[in-house]
Parts: sequence; C-alpha cells; structure tokens
Amino acid sequence: MQWHITDRCPRRCSHCYIPDHTLEPSLGDLVAILDQWVELDRKARQVSTDDWRLDFNLTGGELLSHPQWREFLNAIQSRLPHSRIALLLSGELLTDAIADELAKLRLRYVQFSLDGSRKAHEEIRGPKAFETAIAAIQRTSRRGIPTVVSHTAFPGRLGELAPAAKAARKAGAESIWTDRVVPGPGDAHWNAAATQAFLDELREVSQKLSSKGFKVRTSRALQFLSCGGQAYKCSAGKSLLAVLADGTVVPCRRLPEPIGRLPFENPWDIWTGSEKVRDLVQRQPEGCSRCLFASVCQGGAPCLSFAQMGDATQGDPACCAPGWAIPIS
Ligand SMILES: C[S@@+](CC[C@H](N)C(=O)[O-])C[C@H]1O[C@@H](n2cnc3c(N)ncnc32)[C@H](O)[C@@H]1O
Ligand code: SF4
Ligand code: SF4
Repeated sequence: MQWHITDRCPRRCSHCYIPDHTLEPSLGDLVAILDQWVELDRKARQVSTDDWRLDFNLTGGELLSHPQWREFLNAIQSRLPHSRIALLLSGELLTDAIADELAKLRLRYVQFSLDGSRKAHEEIRGPKAFETAIAAIQRTSRRGIPTVVSHTAFPGRLGELAPAAKAARKAGAESIWTDRVVPGPGDAHWNAAATQAFLDELREVSQKLSSKGFKVRTSRALQFLSCGGQAYKCSAGKSLLAVLADGTVVPCRRLPEPIGRLPFENPWDIWTGSEKVRDLVQRQPEGCSRCLFASVCQGGAPCLSFAQMGDATQGDPACCAPGWAIPIS
C-alpha cells in the first residue's frame, strides 16, 4: 500500500496532485491507522492461500518533513517485521546524516523523482530541485541503499526521459521507471499520438540503457505495447491501495475516487466491500472489446480515464493500440 504520511512539502511542483500542502497527521493518528493494517495483515495471513505480504511505499508530500517519520518507520518495522518498506522522496531535506540513518533501516528501496534535464526538472519543480535530487541519489546509492528514479512524462514536454535516465545512471541509481502524468483540471490531455510518441521514446531509451546494465522499468499501463513483455494490468484496488494524509483510502493516489476513510472504517471491509474496487477488478471497457490485449490489459490506465473522461470504467482515452486490435469483420 502507498501511504501519504504528510501533505507538507517545501515544493509546489506544477503537476502535483496534492491540492493543499498543509495537512499533516500526528504520530498518534498514523499509529491508529497502522493498528488497523496490523489487524488486516493478521486476517489476510489466515485466509490467503497465496503468498501474502503487506508492503509499504511511504511518501508525502515530502515524507522527511514529518517531524516523527523516524518513530513511525520504527513502529512499522517493529509491528510488521515481514513487511518491506520503500520511501518515495524528492531529495529535499535529505542530508548526509539522514542518509546514514536510512542506511540502517533495511529499506526495500528509496525512490527519487527526476523529470528530465535540469531545465525541464526545474521548470516543473522550482530552483535547485535538480541538483538536490542528484545529490540525494548520490547520497543513498553510495551508502548501498537500493536507489531508483521515477520520471513523470508530460504530453507537451516529451523527450525528457533520456536526460533523466542519463543523469540518474550517472548519479548511481539502479533503474528508472516512467509513466504518463495524470492531468489535473486545465492541464494538457494525453491522446493516442502523444502516447505513441512517449512509447517510442521509452523503447529507444530502454534499448540504449539496458545494454549498459541500467534498467528502464516498463511495467505500467500500455508500456508493453512498446517494450514487449507481458501485458500489464493496473493493480489499483487489486493489490494496491493508497492512504492519503487525512486517512482517505483510494485505489491509487492517481485515481482519487474515495472508497473509505481510516481509522473510522475497517480497511478489510473497505477493500473487500467496495463497489469501486469491484468495478476495477472486473473492468472490461466496451471500447476495448475487439482488442487482442483486452483480457490482460483490462483497458489501460483507469486513472487517465478518470482524469480525462470522468469515468474510470472507460478504456484508456489515449491508447494507441487500435492498429493492433482484432479487425472488425
Ligand atoms: C506526490 S510525490 C511525493 C514524493 C516526493 N515529494 C516527490 O515529488 O517525489 C510522488 C510522485 O508522484 C508524482 N506525481 C505528482 N503529481 C502527479 C500527477 N498529477 N500525475 C502523475 N504523477 C504525479 C511525483 O512526480 C512523484 O514522482
Ligand atoms: S515535491 Fe512531490 S509532493 Fe512536493 S509538490 Fe513536488 S510532486 Fe508534490
Ligand atoms: S485497446 Fe484497451 S485493452 Fe487494448 S491495449 Fe488499448 S487500453 Fe488496453
């Protein structure tokens, strides 16, 4: 699960889906919700026939701006020793001393955002954001903490994956993954041509860098259309839930359709009882019914359908696959 433990952040990135950067739950609020996940973990272990593991991607806002992030991480690790923890950060506030602390925490990985060249990254994120991110990647990778980079692609600003990947590799990151931005109100929308151009760019960068041992991770909606491999089925609501700073539960942070609120409701009931989750599990958009990939892709990214069409049950509004679809007889 992805858990936004604070909305506070020193930055105001132009694309950020967090509308208000002031909300910050107390340690007590967070631990009350953690108690519920401990209970869910116990229950899932009893009923699960598959391998079950409750992993946490902790983020914000800027997680390190929460004054009690250390205590909270310790609480998770002591209550759920089998759960793996990753931190999703921008690099702000990450000093050498904090990197030393992180190195002792046995983290699954830390992720930093890099949205392109210095110019592009700072147009999106503000002054000095690029050198801050690079310094943070160096700080964690040099200490042996698995370090990965996340890149957000924008329909009006393609061509930024290559400079981001190059800078990430040089700074010591292991891999980069990229996905299409989820446009907010008034932002440019994705269409099939822009998705195709993004996938072409992804293929080129992936081919170039994988031969140098740097991974370009392509397990995201529609990316299989470019780089081959198994078709990706969005995990929102299935194996992924996100908890926002005010306790609201959503299938994914990119798909802001509330399905419950913690600690007032039980996460197990939310997960197993939500109609919206059921819709995502059963999603088979009519517009995709003739597509060769329909059963495995399940209609691409529901977050984009929601952002651009107001309906997550529709197929990806910017899919460029129709040429691959089963011909209409
Ligand atoms: C909300 S941030 C929190 C972590 C940290 N502050 C950062 O910027 O990396 C987590 C990730 O969400 C991405 N993000 C924010 N708004 C987005 C949007 N509208 N669509 C897609 N990704 C978005 C950010 O670029 C970042 O990689
Ligand atoms: S650094 Fe992260 S949380 Fe802060 S404004 Fe930028 S994307 Fe949002
Ligand atoms: S047409 Fe639908 S099922 Fe096929 S690849 Fe596109 S989004 Fe996925």
